[in-house]
Amino acid sequence: MIEDIRSAIAAIPYPQRPEGLYEPIAYVMSMGGKRLRPMLMLLCYSVFRPDWQKALPAATALELYHNHTLLHDDLMDHADVRRGKPTVHRRWDENTAILSGDTMLLMAARQMAQQRIGRHEEANECFLKSAIEICEGQQYDVNFEKRHDVTEEEYIEMIRLKTSVLLGCAAKIGALLAGASDKDCNILYAFAEKIGLAFQLQDDCLDCFGNEQTFGKRIGGDILCGKKTFMTVAAMQRMENDAERKDFLDVLDAKADTPEAERKKIDLVIDIYRKLGIAEVADARIQQCYDEAHRILLTLDADTATLWNYATSLLGRES
Ligand code: IPE
Ligand code: IPE
Ligand code: MG
Ligand code: MG
Ligand code: MG
Repeated sequence: MIEDIRSAIAAIPYPQRPEGLYEPIAYVMSMGGKRLRPMLMLLCYSVFRPDWQKALPAATALELYHNHTLLHDDLMDHADVRRGKPTVHRRWDENTAILSGDTMLLMAARQMAQQRIGRHEEANECFLKSAIEICEGQQYDVNFEKRHDVTEEEYIEMIRLKTSVLLGCAAKIGALLAGASDKDCNILYAFAEKIGLAFQLQDDCLDCFGNEQTFGKRIGGDILCGKKTFMTVAAMQRMENDAERKDFLDVLDAKADTPEAERKKIDLVIDIYRKLGIAEVADARIQQCYDEAHRILLTLDADTATLWNYATSLLGRES
């Protein structure tokens, strides 16, 4: 299945001109990535029907959409590297990331709308609704950079919007295109939404404790942006008193305008997370999300073993 997804993505045709618009799209789409959302969609389709190849256009549309969010996200997060390569706004420029990103969004929307199998109208509506929710999540993510009092509940809602809904949407679209019942579509959405929370928690962890080569992104990127990640929120909760919290916030807010200062700041913050055992706290929360996801999945009256195996293969991921 993954090979079919890769081939379908490689076969997406792009116009030749203007080069400055389409070359960056071809660049980012050829850089690899886990292709998680198409996999989830097709695995959910396969729960109900064997002919998952029919849903490949919607699956590639969703990957195009996901990559659109990455172009804009990297611009917003001042990220220089993704999948081990320079980001579009670094290799080209900011206007390119905006305009090529917009084009990818529209190409994805058009391709999704052209998919005409199963409950395709509802699938299209699910896609559009999720895309708006992701903008809401990204707005909260940016708002939280300026705040010090983000609660765990607010954080979870923010990551649900920016990350989980796209996994939920992938799963539900798969089920809708296979013509599944409302009940089954909603179970798969709820299942993938929980996996999505775990997925973003892992991403936050990898941003601190990952390996730059395998992760493909700069370690400490979130720290330099002042992001309120699971690590930040959990650390604040676990500190003994306000004085300790103030010291931590001083480190987080400290200006870092040279590469040396950036390195020092990242090391200091990660050291605080280490001392507080935040990685272990995050692991327990990730496991909790998986347990909830599994309970939800077991309410589906169908064979979901392959889907569950795929979801659990993401546990302990390093990229
Ligand atoms: C990155 O998504 C954005 C997040 C939601 C954390 P992925 O980790 O799925 O990125 P690729 O597509 O595999 O590179
Ligand atoms: C992911 O947030 C959410 C979206 C891209 C919509 P991050 O900002 O954590 O993703 P990475 O770490 O840059 O991939
Ligand atoms: Mg980012
Ligand atoms: Mg971001
Ligand atoms: Mg991240």
